[in-house]
Amino acid sequence: MRLDRKRKTQKTTEEQADSAASHMEPSTQLRDASTADLEVIRSLGKIAGLAQWSLKSYRQELEAIDSDIRLIELNSPIRSIVIGFYLLRHLNLESALLQLAVHPVHRRQGWGRKLIGDAVGSCHKYRSVACELEVRARNQGAIEFYRSVGFCREGLRVGYYRNPADDAVLMRLAF
Ligand SMILES: CC(C)(COP(=O)(O)OP(=O)(O)OC[C@H]1O[C@@H](n2cnc3c(N)ncnc32)[C@H](O)[C@@H]1OP(=O)(O)O)[C@@H](O)C(=O)NCCC(=O)NCCS
Repeated sequence: MRLDRKRKTQKTTEEQADSAASHMEPSTQLRDASTADLEVIRSLGKIAGLAQWSLKSYRQELEAIDSDIRLIELNSPIRSIVIGFYLLRHLNLESALLQLAVHPVHRRQGWGRKLIGDAVGSCHKYRSVACELEVRARNQGAIEFYRSVGFCREGLRVGYYRNPADDAVLMRLAF
């Protein structure tokens, strides 16, 4: 009986700690992805409607010295969640932004802009003269986003995408 009461008290204390923790503001961290993050990144890409990459492809990018996979994580004392990421490849003084996504729940809060700012910093480190990307012509939200952070439309690849069929808008940010 006394033991039961003690257990009950312990549980209540743990619950109180959880509850207090859940009321604390989460901190954010922008960091390199690790192998342990790849599954989460893959499912975030799927939720965001990006082209589906295999875990093997993400792992190859992670291991390549001229690629960056960086993510934003919200950390609270009770859990950490990845809310956005980008994948950037540097090649011959040009960089290609291959993937960028923010979880739908966390959009329009400046996280995309923060990720792009970080990616641009990486381009500068590699002495890239420009950053390029391709985006679905029907993805007007993303096109507006890229315009808002300084990218310009450079061209159109007709019929570039499948499932569903779409043209690719080429965008470029020159440094
Ligand atoms: C594109 C994406 C990464 C933007 O992320 P985000 O965190 O919502 O962007 P931000 O909050 O930093 O937005 C910065 C500015 O971009 C513009 N913008 C962002 N999303 C927009 C949208 N859907 N429509 C119009 N403008 C938009 C706005 O000017 C915005 O500033 P404001 O909110 O003060 O008006 C996000 O919508 C996403 O993950 N989309 C799905 C995946 C995708 O399309 N990726 C790109 C494929 S190449």
